[in-house]
Amino acid sequence: MVCHSFLCTVSLCVFLAASASSEILGVNLLRNERNSPTALIGCLTKAGLSPVTPSNPSYQNDSLPVNTRLIYQPASLVYANTAKDVSAAVKCGALHEVKVNARSGGHSYASFGTGGEDGHLIISLDNLNNMKLSGEYVTVGAGTKLGPLYYFLWENGQRATVFGTAPQIGVGGHLHGGYGFLSRKWGLFLDQVVEMEVVKADGSVVTANKDSNADLFWALRGAPPSFGVITQLTILTHPAPTHAATFAFTYNWSTPYIASSAFQIFQHWTAEADMPSDLTLQVQYTDASPVPTFWLIGAYYGDDGIAGLNKTVQPLWDALLALNDSVPTATIFEDLNWIQNVLYEAGLDPTTDPKVALEDAPAIHYPFYCNSVFYSADDLLTNASTLSFAQYTYNGTSADMNWIAYLYLFGGKNSAISAVPQDATAYNARDMFINLQVCGNRNTMPFPDDGLSFTEGMLKSVTDMMPGVRFTGYPNHVDSQLSREEAHASYYPTHTQRLQEIMKKVNQKAVFDYPQGFLPV
Ligand SMILES: Cc1cc2nc3c(=O)[nH]c(=O)nc-3n(C[C@H](O)[C@H](O)[C@H](O)COP(=O)(O)OP(=O)(O)OC[C@H]3O[C@@H](n4cnc5c(N)ncnc54)[C@H](O)[C@@H]3O)c2cc1C
Ligand SMILES: *[C@@H]1O[C@H](CO)[C@@H](O)[C@H](O)[C@H]1NC(C)=O
Ligand SMILES: *[C@@H]1O[C@H](CO)[C@@H](O)[C@H](O)[C@H]1NC(C)=O
Ligand SMILES: *[C@@H]1O[C@H](CO)[C@@H](O)[C@H](O)[C@H]1NC(C)=O
Ligand SMILES: *[C@@H]1O[C@H](CO)[C@@H](O)[C@H](O)[C@H]1NC(C)=O
Ligand SMILES: *[C@@H]1O[C@H](CO)[C@@H](O)[C@H](O)[C@H]1NC(C)=O
Ligand SMILES: *[C@@H]1O[C@H](CO)[C@@H](O)[C@H](O)[C@H]1NC(C)=O
Repeated sequence: MVCHSFLCTVSLCVFLAASASSEILGVNLLRNERNSPTALIGCLTKAGLSPVTPSNPSYQNDSLPVNTRLIYQPASLVYANTAKDVSAAVKCGALHEVKVNARSGGHSYASFGTGGEDGHLIISLDNLNNMKLSGEYVTVGAGTKLGPLYYFLWENGQRATVFGTAPQIGVGGHLHGGYGFLSRKWGLFLDQVVEMEVVKADGSVVTANKDSNADLFWALRGAPPSFGVITQLTILTHPAPTHAATFAFTYNWSTPYIASSAFQIFQHWTAEADMPSDLTLQVQYTDASPVPTFWLIGAYYGDDGIAGLNKTVQPLWDALLALNDSVPTATIFEDLNWIQNVLYEAGLDPTTDPKVALEDAPAIHYPFYCNSVFYSADDLLTNASTLSFAQYTYNGTSADMNWIAYLYLFGGKNSAISAVPQDATAYNARDMFINLQVCGNRNTMPFPDDGLSFTEGMLKSVTDMMPGVRFTGYPNHVDSQLSREEAHASYYPTHTQRLQEIMKKVNQKAVFDYPQGFLPV
């Protein structure tokens, strides 16, 4: 099995924090201040919400994020079964001045699904997982996970839509973007969403679409957490592709000079070729000895299958072969169907039962640091920049972890992501070409300190060589190390002001807040 997803470099381990803190309750037992945890818990209990508190035996598990590098202690966590439950919880948080956050799938790189700092009220949407298909639209609860939804759409008339790869991601948080293998063809996940049910900061439950609460609808597509708790989404679906001609070629470049040339060939070819929207390509570049492994991975969804794939990608394969340095080991699957392609892209065996693999994917918890930068086709990485990156990675790290980097093709000719106008939604990177993501991963705690600096250094090795060039961030790859202002500048370079204006209308008291949230200023 090829190893090109997060899931390959981490084992499915559950890390449980050692010390359960029940002090918060004890200290405040006799006080009844408005903003005391006791008062909050009383309010939630009165609303029938069974709050999980620090003294509850399941508290550590219930509040455990995917990224165990960043474990926070919420004041309380509730499982909502309805939008009404969400509304009641939001009102309790607002009344008792405890910050409120939603958690859909808990995959935030910065653990913002559990507040990004201690002491928040977390509303888990795990139980809001209904799925209903009606014509070409599917309406789902915001806690629905990608895997079950992929399978549901496939089983109900072989339909599909665009999401990322990990089956346990929640649709609510994925709305910061949502990049998947069909993004060049259909756009981002957020581009498929036509309507949402939202609980606002005052506890009201409203519908947001292009006509009704249009500002809220605009903000939530790209910047969900500050503006409301989405409880339900209506999503456009499409007939699934009839073919998914999928390939992965592995190369071992003997020197950083040749690796740098391979990066140059990849970015120039994908920027200049008339790539059909049915074709997607990416590079995954991973820690290995004696040299890093360079994977070129792609899928072609045209009706002409492998023949069409070969015809379109052959020039790129030839260009890499002309480096005369590494004959690739190839994995090609002919005639994969769409759901097998979904498994393959998730790092799973495409021949396994998709129902089990997608509906019952085990929860993942492991410590990591990931971050990414976007660059535009006007500012392709220079030779000096890719060489610096290759040298940095060929030097490697003594940090006890694995690193991996990804080049994702968001733009290029015929990309449906770039076809959407920049100001159509809060998402602010329509003009960007490639997203370069870097990750440091470990199976178990603790995450090494030098792991974080090494991983940050991978991006710096690229960007430091191109001073003055505009690199921006992808909010689904949220960087835990950014301040509020840095985050807004990186993720919403031209949309920050409008988002702040919308905050003044829908969340004046910053009930929904977290370390990188918008403020009504
Ligand atoms: C292993 C792994 C693989 C990934 N693969 C991809 C990929 O292929 N493509 C891609 O684009 N991204 C990918 N991501 C990034 C992922 O899309 C983001 O981390 C996303 O924000 C996770 O959403 P969530 O609901 O699971 O997370 P959560 O932690 O629950 O939420 C993330 C943020 O959104 C807020 N939020 C959650 N639900 C709601 C809601 N209903 N209403 C309002 N705000 C809400 C939370 O408060 C938090 O701030 C991956 C992440 C991981 C860890
Ligand atoms: C742990 O928490 C998750 C939600 O994050 C829940 O689905 C699971 O049932 C819990 N497990 C136990 C043993 O309590
Ligand atoms: C497609 O290309 C691959 C790799 O070069 C080759 O192994 C395969 O035979 C080709 N298939 C067709 C149908 O052209
Ligand atoms: C690669 O090898 C081929 C055939 O052996 C040769 O024709 C070509 O010039 C070589 N290219 C480079 C860049 O060395
Ligand atoms: C690359 O190197 C690894 C580790 O040495 C080896 O297992 C693999 O077969 C090599 N692949 C190629 C294409 O040379
Ligand atoms: C970058 O390197 C390639 C391959 O070595 C070379 O052909 C090209 O001219 C270089 N570009 C610049 C701007 O130096
Ligand atoms: C790689 O390591 C060497 C030797 O330690 C060092 O001199 C060099 O600066 C390093 N290069 C990069 C790009 O980190």
